[in-house]
This record gives sequence, C-alpha cells and structure tokens, in this order.
Amino acid sequence: MNEFVLTMQGIDKQFSGNKVLDQVDFSLRRGEVHAIIGGNGAGKSTLMKILTGIYRKDGGTVTVNGEEVDFASYRDANAVGLRMIFQELSIIPTLTVVENIYLNNEKKKGIFTDDKRMEESAKSFLDRFGIDIPLREKVSNLSVGYCQLVEIAKALSQEAKILVMDEPTASLSDSEVTLLFNIIRNLKQEGVSIVYISHSMNEILEISDEVTVLRDGKHIITERASKLTISGIIDHVLGDTEKRSFAYHARKTPIGENKVVEIEALHVEHLVKDVSFHVNEGEIVGLAGLMGSGRTEIVEALFGIRNIKNGVVRMNDKEIKIRNTKDSVCAGIMLVPEDRRREGLILSHTLKDNILITLFGKTKRGPFINERKLSQLSEESIRDLNIKTTGISIPINRLSGGNQQKVVIAKWLKNKPKLLLLDEPTAGIDIGAKGEIIEIIEAYAAEGNGVIVVSSEISELVAMCDRIIVLYDGRKIKELGRAEIENEEVIQHAIQG
Ligand SMILES: Nc1ncnc2c1ncn2[C@@H]1O[C@H](COP(=O)(O)OP(=O)(O)OP(=O)(O)O)[C@@H](O)[C@H]1O
Ligand SMILES: [Mg+2]
Repeated sequence: MNEFVLTMQGIDKQFSGNKVLDQVDFSLRRGEVHAIIGGNGAGKSTLMKILTGIYRKDGGTVTVNGEEVDFASYRDANAVGLRMIFQELSIIPTLTVVENIYLNNEKKKGIFTDDKRMEESAKSFLDRFGIDIPLREKVSNLSVGYCQLVEIAKALSQEAKILVMDEPTASLSDSEVTLLFNIIRNLKQEGVSIVYISHSMNEILEISDEVTVLRDGKHIITERASKLTISGIIDHVLGDTEKRSFAYHARKTPIGENKVVEIEALHVEHLVKDVSFHVNEGEIVGLAGLMGSGRTEIVEALFGIRNIKNGVVRMNDKEIKIRNTKDSVCAGIMLVPEDRRREGLILSHTLKDNILITLFGKTKRGPFINERKLSQLSEESIRDLNIKTTGISIPINRLSGGNQQKVVIAKWLKNKPKLLLLDEPTAGIDIGAKGEIIEIIEAYAAEGNGVIVVSSEISELVAMCDRIIVLYDGRKIKELGRAEIENEEVIQHAIQG
C-alpha cells in the first residue's frame, strides 16, 4: 500500500490575474497529521479548497489513494472520504446543533427527517469523542468556541479518510484544544489522515508529524516536526521580513494621571461579581483568566451588549449609564469583538464599505459620503496594518481569514475611541502581523487613550500590558503591576485561582 494517501504536485492558482499559488507541492502520509503554516494570505486555505473541490486549480496534479482526481465540487470530494472543517464557519445560525450536524445528510423516515434518530446518533458519536454540546440549542445562542465544536462535530459525523482542519482552534480555550487533540489522536489510530492549519507554533509542534511552510503562495519547506524548533519555523514563515520582538517596550510617553475609565463594584448578569478597576490615559490593562472567568463578559458589558446589574462606570470622572451599544459609543467606548466574522463584518460588501459602516460621522460632508476621504482612510488602514489585498473595492470575503480580522481592527481604530476594548485581538493573525498589531495598539494608547485587552495568549499580555487584572469565576482575585508581570509563569499560576 502506498504510504501517501494524498499528493499534490505543482499546484498553480490565480484569482483574476493575482497569482496566489505557484507550483506548490504537498503530500500527506496515511494516518499522520501534516501541518501547514504560513502568513495571512500565504495560500493555505486556497490550497486545501482546491483539494476539496471548492476551487479549481489552474495547473498541477492531485492524487488521492494513488488515483489522479479533479473534483468539481465539495460533494465530489466527500464521495471519496475527504472532509474539511472550514476557517469561515459553514454552520447556519438559525438551525439547531443537530440540524446543522446533519444538514444535507439528513436521516429519513419515509420522506420525513427522523429527528429522534439524528439526535440519538449525534449524541452517541459526540459522547465517543467527549464533546458536550446542547444538541437542541439554536446555534445563534452559542459562543464562538461552541460553534467551532459544532463545525468539528459536523465533519466527524460522516466517516472521513482525509480530514482538513483549517484553523480549528482559533476560538477554542486551552481545555477545548486538549479535547480536540485527543480527538485527533483517536482519529489517527483509526487510520484517518489529517491536514492541520494553524498559526500556533506550540500546537503545531505538539500535534503534527510533518510540517509544510508556505510563504506568498510558494512552498518553502517540508520537514518532520521532530526536527523543527519554534524559532526555526518562524524564520521560514517570515523569510527576510523584519522580525518584531514580542518583548515589552517600556512606554515612551508616560502613563497619564487621569483615569479614562473607572469601574466600581461591577456586576454583570450572574457572571461577573463585584469587580473594580480603572484605566489611566495611555495605559493598557489586560484581563486574564480561564474560559468562563468573566473576561469577555466585562468588555461586553462595557460595550452595552450585556446587562449591567449593578455598579458604577465613570468615563473621565463622569458617571455614565450603559443600557445599549449606542450609550457606549457616545461615551467613546468601542469593542473589537472576539467573534469578528459574525459581529464585525458584512462579508459580501467591499473592504471600503466595511470600513465605512462605523465611519459615517467622519466621512460625511453634508448628507453625502465623501468618497475621497473614505478611500484615503481605507488606503491608510491597508498600509498601517499591512492588509494583503488587491484593492479597497474587493469584496471582503475574498480576503484571507487573517486579513479580514485586520479590517475589523482597522475600522475601530479609525473611529478613535477614548476607551478601546479588544477581545482576543490577534486570534487568527500570523506571527509576523501579531507584533505589528501589538505596536499599533501601543501607539494608540500613547495618544492618551485607554485600552482594555482580553487574551488567552499570556505571551501577548506580557508583551503589551502595563497592568493585568486576574479574574477567576467572575471575581477579581489579583492585580499585577508591570514589575510583577516579569514572566508568563507568574500569570499562568495566578489564573488557576
Ligand atoms: N475567492 C477569492 N477571490 C479572490 N482572491 C482570493 C479568493 N480566495 C482567496 N483569495 C486570495 O488568495 C490569497 C491566499 O488566500 P488564503 O485564504 O489561501 O490565505 P491563507 O494562507 O489561508 O491566510 P489566513 O492565514 O489569513 O487564513 C489571498 O491574497 C486572498 O486574498
Ligand atoms: Mg486561511
């Protein structure tokens, strides 16, 4: 038996004259995990969409189980056991979890769908993988992490021989990542071969047998994971581009004396209890804690999308009432949400129009939108955040996942809030751009604004925060000043409660 279940050779692809894959080779050994890593827009998702029949290649050959194939649709690829967990979630929010899992693959009793049988069989395979999701819940009521688990469950509900996972962990907490890795190990034992795409070096070295690096549409290396180190991979991913360190930069402008925001005895729904802290002008304050510790709930409450039960919020020493998002925006507070694709963008609109959605105020001249000003702001964002795109008039869903994330961050920054709330600002963003985004946030604070950042990546908090509030089970249990944030272990230890 051939040791390779899949070989792709000399794959070429262009979109309207823009070459995104150039003679790329990729092969996958039976029962192994082969990781693909590379910058935002390097071509990872495109290569896998060619494999699974979603895009057609311009050149090259694809062989599955020793036979040359050329799938015309995802359905064709499914028929020979290929499945993909998509980076842009493919589940439908208005349907329940079970309905999503069996969408287009319904179990029938006569001409009717057999809900009971679908639910039973969903439950039995979810149990087998140790996934616990409320099956009858509408997907729109679930958090991003759960949506990702539904997406994974959907791919697992039908037998797969080759499973492609495109950034499956971007919204998962550590314990859910552990669960996913157990699932992957089980699947390997059953002989399933897996392609794993991620920006996390740690994950890649832990779970994969082989690693391929792509850069700007070109194959750079393929190597056994055991022979690679994190810094070696980073070198391949970045090439000659300038390396930005993740180290904390002492503030060039001192942190101001005035408080941008002061929060006193905040209670949010039943999830946050009696939390108090403040953010000064020019200061970046981090919220650290495990999944469910109340981090996201605090920033969502400040943005008016969760109910504040009790407590006082003052902006520049004046008490404000936050009943909805409008109240927050008027007070100069804005949130870059964790789930940027669901809440932050209109995918079929152009890049320029997506920046416009929040910018009316700044680009209006009389009743008309000042097109020139808007174009100029969009071009600026592309430059500042290094967004990889062929122009400002292309629909946002043609950008790579990470570049879509950058557009959301750009649009909020251009609104110049006094208090910027960021929930997992670098999830899905490549290693090169992570440093850039941290620098942009620092520069933004240095203009005298306040920043609150939620992140499950401790290294990111260490690199950027002047102070860290540690939360556990909805309560503040510790506050670490810069001098105490000396290393990641201190924080790692503190968040355990
Ligand atoms: N349907 C499309 N039309 C036009 N251009 C596209 C389309 N899909 C992808 N591209 C372009 O192809 C390039 C590669 O995108 P791809 O999504 O494969 O990147 P990626 O490596 O998956 O990045 P990320 O890490 O951000 O997900 C990008 O420049 C992107 O804008
Ligand atoms: Mg991608």
